[in-house]
Amino acid sequence: MRTVKIFDTTLRDGEQSPGCSMNLSEKIVMARQLEKLGVDIIEAGFAISSPMDFKSVQAIAQAAPECTIASLARCNKNDIDTAWEAVKDAKKPRIHVFIATSEVHMKYKLRMTPEQVLQTITDMVGYAKSKCQDIEFSAEDASRSDKEFLAQAFSNAIAAGANTINVPDTVGYSTPQEMSELINYLREHVTGIENVDISVHCHNDLGMGVANSLACIKAGASQVECTVNGIGERAGNASLEEIAMALRTRHDFYDADTNINTREIYKSSRLLSNITGVPIAPTKAIVGANAFAHEAGIHQHGMITNAQTYEIMNPDEIGIPHRALVLGKHSGKHALRERLESMGYEIPDDELEDIFTRFKKLADEKKTVTSSDLEALTLHRSRVIKSASGESSAPACQLVSHSITSGSGVPKISYVQIKRDGKLMDGVESGAGPLDAAFKVINRMLGVEARLEDFSIRAVTEGEDSIGEAVVKISSAASGEMYTGSGISTDIVEASLAAYIAGINKMFEEESGR
Ligand code: KIV
Ligand code: ZN
Repeated sequence: MRTVKIFDTTLRDGEQSPGCSMNLSEKIVMARQLEKLGVDIIEAGFAISSPMDFKSVQAIAQAAPECTIASLARCNKNDIDTAWEAVKDAKKPRIHVFIATSEVHMKYKLRMTPEQVLQTITDMVGYAKSKCQDIEFSAEDASRSDKEFLAQAFSNAIAAGANTINVPDTVGYSTPQEMSELINYLREHVTGIENVDISVHCHNDLGMGVANSLACIKAGASQVECTVNGIGERAGNASLEEIAMALRTRHDFYDADTNINTREIYKSSRLLSNITGVPIAPTKAIVGANAFAHEAGIHQHGMITNAQTYEIMNPDEIGIPHRALVLGKHSGKHALRERLESMGYEIPDDELEDIFTRFKKLADEKKTVTSSDLEALTLHRSRVIKSASGESSAPACQLVSHSITSGSGVPKISYVQIKRDGKLMDGVESGAGPLDAAFKVINRMLGVEARLEDFSIRAVTEGEDSIGEAVVKISSAASGEMYTGSGISTDIVEASLAAYIAGINKMFEEESGR
């Protein structure tokens, strides 16, 4: 059986999608999880695109030493130099250079002739190779390129030193049959192709990103580019978890597998959703809330008799926690750690302390704490992120207490007490509603002009006393940048204030360049 390499681009192509941007600490947390998940290559960013991207690629290169770390670069010296600067200290660095090869892109975007594009490939792949041993070359919009020209472009890239050639369906236009035929064509017509990895990168505009990727694997591709939860530009990229589970479940058909530790899939998916504030659709394959729910009586009966009647995968294989596990208010730290470990979470001591404090508070509010409660607490713990110099950073502001007055025909008033860098402050405001009033007073106390752009709240655990998760998107009036924050509590006002403050903390973190 072949092992197909997983090239994860959640932190580059995925992060480019609206509402999915992550700050440095979040990228590091996600990169560590991707390493645990067993991805072979992490595309950590597009180093030239901003100083923040450069810094993130550098930090991820240190944070996930087991993975190859790639930075994207256009076919020019400045991009390649910057990409190399960002990845050069990784244990396994890669430069990923790309240029478009379709007629429409060459003519209207690049304003280059096909001959100029071919020469640029030779020159720039060669230049990248003079810096880094591991070079990937992508022909952007490959699936809409002239096949003969595409084969020549890849032949030039291989002759100049590319170790991987990537075939993107950039606009998600292709069908599985066409992608399969394209791979077969390239295998026959590209000089030196037998010595390199053939990669595919499929977008999901027609909902065929995963099907196209799998068709290419069947046709011989040895690397696949994808993202957790399928996030990415427009309709997204091919979803990592769907590809990994399709190969695992259908060995009989694909005769191929990956190095993915599938038991880390669920956690990776929830972590990303938690960081970005982008929820997972209940019907999403593999990781959606309904993916293993059996509602119809006839299905439930079949499941009780033999799970294989309606379940083609075992939820344990994906790391979906057993909902029934419970702890009570007398459970200690040891029991909490054991329970978290049985759910697949290995938590450092300083972070366990924070979860334990919140667990005790929750156990006072609810009779029993279920595994979904624990999962919510774990995802929302305050993480200790150590910088390269060894300092650890804690959030600048924390909610200490609040109280609200609200009701029909009465003024809506909120009192909020917060701590900023250890200093207590409080204030009162009135507003259109209690949250409007509370957000106003937080802005005033912190001297920020943050605008609420989006707000949602939903129950993330089961039962009447369930935990509510609030997600806010705020924009900074000063920079126009958007920040997402989330917070949880059995009290939805508290969850909302915690989310708002989490968003402001991200704003501070970015503005101080931490
Ligand atoms: O979709 C695309 O073509 C890309 C390339 C840069 C690989 O993301
Ligand atoms: Zn892409």
